[in-house]
Amino acid sequence: MTSILILNGPNLNLLGTRQPEVYGHTTLADIQALCTDTARDLGCSIAFEQSNSEGFMIDLIHAAKGTHDGIILNAGAYTHTSVALMDALASVEIPTVELHLSNIHAREEFRHTSYISKVAIGVICGFGANGYPMALKALCEHLA
Ligand code: DQA
Repeated sequence: MTSILILNGPNLNLLGTRQPEVYGHTTLADIQALCTDTARDLGCSIAFEQSNSEGFMIDLIHAAKGTHDGIILNAGAYTHTSVALMDALASVEIPTVELHLSNIHAREEFRHTSYISKVAIGVICGFGANGYPMALKALCEHLA
């Protein structure tokens, strides 16, 4: 069975109360439940993780090699800063979809740069929590 790591970065544990006008009222637990339902429908398995630590996220990406077939990554603000996360993804060579709740291109200029995009197979942004099931479907079809 296809196995997908869904990895969420810094401050995404605060979804639901964090800037709801930007990120909506859906909590990360709600998103995990949405992903679990979608994965069941698609016939794939998921591991759902969140960390505020760049180093721990890198450890999870390394550990994904040989364990997961694909990665969905919402790297939060590390998207715009982390060469280290980009290098980790390039090192493990696991197909990765970059995901954002908000449309980063319609926001501040510093959010228009993504190191993750340089190694991702595709990007989904601007659809809020619905982006997660969209990314799962896209990645499962890519891996089929
Ligand atoms: C985000 C967008 C990032 O710019 C921001 O730093 C986040 C969340 C999103 O999901 O829209 O933390 O990745």
